[in-house]
Order: sequence, then structure tokens, then C-alpha cells
Amino acid sequence: MDITTAEFVISNTDVKKCPTGTFPEYAFIGRSNVGKSSLINMLTGRKGLAMTSATPGKTMLINHFLINKSWYLVDLPGYGYAKRGQKGQEQIQRIIETYILQREQLTNLFVLIDSRHEPQNNDMSFIEWLGENGVPFSIIFTKADKLNTGKLNANIQLYLKRLKEQWEELPPYFITSSENKTGKEHILKYIESINTELNSGKTNQIN
Ligand code: GTP
Ligand code: MG
Repeated sequence: MDITTAEFVISNTDVKKCPTGTFPEYAFIGRSNVGKSSLINMLTGRKGLAMTSATPGKTMLINHFLINKSWYLVDLPGYGYAKRGQKGQEQIQRIIETYILQREQLTNLFVLIDSRHEPQNNDMSFIEWLGENGVPFSIIFTKADKLNTGKLNANIQLYLKRLKEQWEELPPYFITSSENKTGKEHILKYIESINTELNSGKTNQIN
């Protein structure tokens, strides 16, 4: 799928103020600094579309980007950034949870995992919480360029093993690098296939 247009639409903390309408949306979540905003820029081929930073805690709001005038990519704040303080973390947590549980247009949540690390408790419990709430999600391993292939595969296998302890069936997963565009085609194809399925559902309803 080619991305012909990518436009920033709105930032906010209130899920009720997110764009109205029925366009499907794909949101990116994960620990602060995992590479959510960078991935949105990589997928759209627009470097400054989502704001990125080497310092964790950059994205504080729900950010909607309209793609090809027909669906949204959504950049969310990261969780687990201790320096925000207890109150700040709780506030961000509330924004994230409300968005995930209440946003009907949310079609798929991409959970980003830093491929450099062994399974982290806050990621595992977040994924468990998604399962308990029936949220459709996929996993994206980020920063693949930072490891050699052997270490990368070992880390991913370890993660999948941990997930298999929680899940009968593994969710779809992707390996990416925003630095060298690894995974771009796979993710865009995946989104396109879901969009196509949704559209064919609409046609069936009309007929
Ligand atoms: P918050 O908004 O703070 O939650 O972070 P984020 O998850 O949006 O991360 P962001 O995209 O801002 O990236 C954080 C840092 O990681 C930046 O310095 C990026 O340049 C770097 N980074 C992101 N993705 C990659 C990647 O695939 N490879 C490498 N080498 N660096 C990356
Ligand atoms: Mg960000």
C-alpha cells in the first residue's frame, strides 16, 4: 500500500474530543522511548510528522494522523516512565486506558516492545490486561538495527515463549527498525488487509 497523504489532525487528552466518524484507526502503544512516534514517521515516510525525542516521555497526548483520507494512525503516550512521578504516570495511564477501552474506532492496537531487552513485567502485564479486556492487538519488536541477528532472534524467541505461557495462540508480530525501514511493507500490508476486510463487510451490509 502506498501512503499518498498523511496529515496531523488533532492532539488531545480527552477521548471524547477525538475525531468523529467511522474511519478505522490503528494505535501505537508501549513503554516510553520504545519508538512509537519514530515508527509512525517511518511508516508514513514523513520524518517530522510525529514528534520524537531521545528523552523518554515526549508524547503526552493522543495524536491522530489521517492517512490516505480514509484511516488513522494514532500516536499514544508511553507508559512506565518513572521520572514523570506517580501523579503524572497515573494521569497518562488514565488517558491510555480510557482511549483503549472507549474508542470504538480502534481497530488494532500495536504494542511496541524494545527488541533489545528481555521480557519486562510492565509489558507483560499490559498485554495481559489487553487480553482481559478483549482488545485486538499485535506486537511490534522495535530497534532491530541495534542488535545482531543472533541476539535479535534469541530475544524475540524468548518473548514469544513468555507469551505462549499466557496465550493459546500468538498474536501477529512484526520486527522493525525505524532506522532502516525494516518491517514497513509487512505492517502496511497488514493494515491494508484489515481495511479491505472492513470495507467488504460494509458492502455486504448494504447489499
Ligand atoms: P515517548 O513518546 O516518549 O513515549 O517515546 P516513543 O515511543 O514515541 O519513542 P520515539 O519514537 O520518540 O523514539 C525514542 C528514541 O529512540 C529516539 O531517540 C529515536 O531516534 C530512537 N529510535 C526509535 N526507533 C528506533 C529504531 O528503530 N532504531 C534506532 N536505532 N533508534 C530508534
Ligand atoms: Mg512518542
